[in-house]
Amino acid sequence: MRIAFLGKGGAGKTTTSAGFIRYVAKKKPYVLAIDADVNAHLRGALHLSDLTGEAHELGDVKEEIITYLKGEREDLGELTMVGTTPPSLKSNFIDVSANDPLIKKYAQNSGNISLLTVGTYKESDVGGACYHVKLTGLQSFFHHLLDKDSDIVVADTTAGTDNVATSLSFAYDMNVFVVEPTKKSVQVYLDYLAVAPHLADRTYVIANKVDTPEDELFIIKHVGQDRLLGAVPQSRHLKRFEQGKREALDDFMKEQEVVFEKVLTTLESKKRDWQDYLTRLRTTHTKVCRDWLDDYFGQKLDQGLDQEFSYEKVLANKKTLTTV
Ligand SMILES: Nc1ncnc2c1ncn2[C@@H]1O[C@H](COP(=O)(O)OP(=O)(O)OP(=O)(O)O)[C@@H](O)[C@H]1O
Ligand SMILES: [Mg+2]
Repeated sequence: MRIAFLGKGGAGKTTTSAGFIRYVAKKKPYVLAIDADVNAHLRGALHLSDLTGEAHELGDVKEEIITYLKGEREDLGELTMVGTTPPSLKSNFIDVSANDPLIKKYAQNSGNISLLTVGTYKESDVGGACYHVKLTGLQSFFHHLLDKDSDIVVADTTAGTDNVATSLSFAYDMNVFVVEPTKKSVQVYLDYLAVAPHLADRTYVIANKVDTPEDELFIIKHVGQDRLLGAVPQSRHLKRFEQGKREALDDFMKEQEVVFEKVLTTLESKKRDWQDYLTRLRTTHTKVCRDWLDDYFGQKLDQGLDQEFSYEKVLANKKTLTTV
């Protein structure tokens, strides 16, 4: 299952993602962490002193990723494969495992955590790159990821509601808004629901930097009790940690634990509907092709694609292969 942390700038997305990744890593065999923010801070926030492997940025290697994922597919012919191109039965897919070839090549590792980073803008990107282009590799990555219900993938995202405009909007099984007890912070969550009401049942809130019961009530009043997974205090331990007291990180983690337990059980209660996922992907691909990609590439990018493809077929084939 895949979970993304979203919210207003500075609300605590990265702090919360990092805390949740550490929490899950203690309980589960493996966790795949993804820094999907173009202002990449997750690596630092994880405070992993023994991180190994070269730091790659998916945004820089998107062509390589796409070539790999294309695999042996023949349906594309001369057509360009883009972030929203649905897979084919002959594509390469990705497993949530440190041994998966793509993860092995591009992730950094610490214990049972693998970290992938989308990457920041370079000087060469100025003027020519937009956030969505940076995320092309990540979109392809998710649409070829054959995660099982028991796998855990955690993404820290860019501030605001921008992901709703991309195929990443349905890539996650659960969206968690990190919300501070302020009108502006709550508004980002409400804006998201207004443009993506179809994602409401997978979207939740964590109240962050809560000082008083009134703070929590303020958030409940705006988001509803049923959407709130819990509250994390305005932590003096985190401040102490940031002032250099290493042991204070454990104290902060204790303050987050109850909320994280709720987040994890909620995530584990989700089930992926692969058919629905594929329908959304195909619809989105056709839409972005009509909106601008066809003009941009001078090709009809959604024509002639493998209509036999379904995620269930690929999963069933994999099962047969592993049991033979
Ligand atoms: N519960 C908390 N108690 C105290 N400080 C917190 C808490 N959560 C986050 N912070 C602090 O708030 C600041 C912003 O946090 P963080 O970087 O996680 O936010 P963000 O939403 O990821 O920001 P950005 O939009 O820039 O990515 C940091 O200094 C962090 O230490
Ligand atoms: Mg952040």
